[in-house]
Amino acid sequence: MAAVILLGPPGVGKGTQGVLLADALGWERIVTGDLLRAARRAGTELGEKARAYMDAGELVPDELVVALVEERLAKTSGETGVIFDGFPRNVAQAGELEAALDRHDRRVDRVLLLEAPDNVLEKRLTGRRSCPECGAVYNVYFNPPEREDVCDRCGRDGLVQREDDRPETVRHRLQVYRGETEPLVRYYEEAEAEVIRIDGDRAVDEIQEDVQVAAVGEPIS
Ligand code: AP5
Repeated sequence: MAAVILLGPPGVGKGTQGVLLADALGWERIVTGDLLRAARRAGTELGEKARAYMDAGELVPDELVVALVEERLAKTSGETGVIFDGFPRNVAQAGELEAALDRHDRRVDRVLLLEAPDNVLEKRLTGRRSCPECGAVYNVYFNPPEREDVCDRCGRDGLVQREDDRPETVRHRLQVYRGETEPLVRYYEEAEAEVIRIDGDRAVDEIQEDVQVAAVGEPIS
């Protein structure tokens, strides 16, 4: 079955578009940021090891992330496509992904590269708030809740900001992306994978259409 990678800098909308794409296609998502945050919440040893790296905006060591991805990949049904969000994040992880997919009779079919200028990314990330109760995501600039700081979905009073969405850490995450993750674009182009560039500096629904066409090669009815 198909496997696509959502690639792009922090805040470009990988999570937002990944959810919409998975809903539209009935595909599964493997989101390393979410897997790591779940491990932290569960208080596992891996989650504790990852904490300091994540809060500082650094990449978590490859062996920890690869172990999580392998565990999650083993739970996929094999009947549907898979969307990778946040993985791979460097060339070593890309090699590990290839090997792991090979073991599951899959391969990377397409790489969807979302792009937006740094000033847009900074505003999106520093404005992001989420509900600690139900996980709904808002943005104080682009998508605020109806009542300030109160979740529209579950009514919880007190939205939270991710530790790594503070301005200094956001700037560092963008540097880490440029230094460690962006070289993957060239890596996949040289590997002759299909890399599709998508302008992520538009309205969510406009991007969504392009993402869906790029993922399967045709509009989804
Ligand atoms: P991770 O959770 O993967 O964070 P990220 O890549 O930095 O991505 P984000 O979730 O911040 O942004 P996004 O592109 O998903 O945008 P979103 O849709 O949320 O990783 C966190 C950390 O975990 C890393 O720093 C690292 O430490 C570790 N980690 C994870 N994977 C790893 C790996 N493979 N190896 C090593 N370490 C790893 O949108 C952002 C905001 O913008 C939201 O408020 C949203 O509402 C808004 N928004 C989205 N689209 C639009 C739009 N079109 N217009 C206006 N607003 C929009």
